[in-house]
Amino acid sequence: MENKTINLGIFGFGVVGQGLYEVLNRTKGINARIKKICIKDPNKSRPIDSSYFTTDKNEILEDPTIDVVVELINDTEAAFEIVSTALRNGKAVVSASKRMIAENLPALYQLQAENKVPFLYEASSCASIPIIRNLEEYYDNDLLNAVEGICNGSTNYILTKIFEENLSFTTALQQAQDLGFAETDPTLDIEGYDPKFKIVILLLHAFGTFVKPEEVFNFGIHHLNDFDIQFAKQRNCTIKLIAQCRRQNGHVSSYVLPHLIKEHNLLYDVYNEYNGILLESAFTDKQFFVGKGAGGTATGSAVLSDISALVYNYRYEYKKIKQNNQPSFTNDVNLKVYLRYKTPDQVDLAEFFNISEKYESTEWRYVVGTINLQKLREAGWLKNKNVNLLVLE
Ligand code: HSE
Repeated sequence: MENKTINLGIFGFGVVGQGLYEVLNRTKGINARIKKICIKDPNKSRPIDSSYFTTDKNEILEDPTIDVVVELINDTEAAFEIVSTALRNGKAVVSASKRMIAENLPALYQLQAENKVPFLYEASSCASIPIIRNLEEYYDNDLLNAVEGICNGSTNYILTKIFEENLSFTTALQQAQDLGFAETDPTLDIEGYDPKFKIVILLLHAFGTFVKPEEVFNFGIHHLNDFDIQFAKQRNCTIKLIAQCRRQNGHVSSYVLPHLIKEHNLLYDVYNEYNGILLESAFTDKQFFVGKGAGGTATGSAVLSDISALVYNYRYEYKKIKQNNQPSFTNDVNLKVYLRYKTPDQVDLAEFFNISEKYESTEWRYVVGTINLQKLREAGWLKNKNVNLLVLE
């Protein structure tokens, strides 16, 4: 595609689509123009000329002059259909749909290989942080031990507002929605599904292991209360929703859980909609990536960077899949946690070992102890709104 104008066909014109439009208009270095934008609702008022829009997907998918399909829609099934068809039609595809990608990684990997076309999705994980390309290009599988961090802008925004400005959860969530950070269904953010999709994608690029999202345990910040916030503050800590994947003894484990974070931790100072990723590798110890993890132009800039990479025929090589020494997935790891509850019948403390702290008051109780991740996954009691969990460092 070198030196020619790239014709783009875009699906979706929501927060990210409009962000891309703006970023594209303000970037002089790339020879790309939007040929068509496929949208669902033709009656919605749009901020740009109506000639851009169509509701017929084939105006993009079947147009031989469109080189790159950019998929930015919310509907997971429709997104997979669009991306698969585009790849089969020999078009390069750029997507930001983390859920669709995480749920279909094996199929998408096959499709891009069989059809010999690039499929790029940097914007799907941590928006503006170029983490996928770094994992692909820079890190050798043998050296990388862990990918850990804040992969959801909305929950980080909410936690920042709670800890720094004493806002209520509801007000902070409303702001995150108004600013275009949250998912259409914000439970995906606050219950930790969205960062789970992202860590599943990062895990593949870090270690070459395909993991289904349902294999990874996620628990968000939906049960957080004032007692937990005081608990954190008394220990000079903050709370962050952490997504992690870690390799140990030939296995890789992964989860999304709220963590108590001490001041010396680099993630402590990641505020608002920013995301932060810590990589741990054998010789470099820790490396830290930080950047905006949500919002129209931040995400649009990652999409644009993928489009720009296509000009140089860039594609993911998936080297770690090809190396054939992938760690196998496990949930058999132990975590030190704080577990808060109201009455003893709400939890099963027999699942814990090494309980080092116990607290009881008329209103709340908690223990600090160690529990196996697999037990947490199976624990029905975490569904009780009076029960909350924080991982301790
Ligand atoms: N809802 C997502 C977030 C958007 O808050 O991080 C970016 O993926």
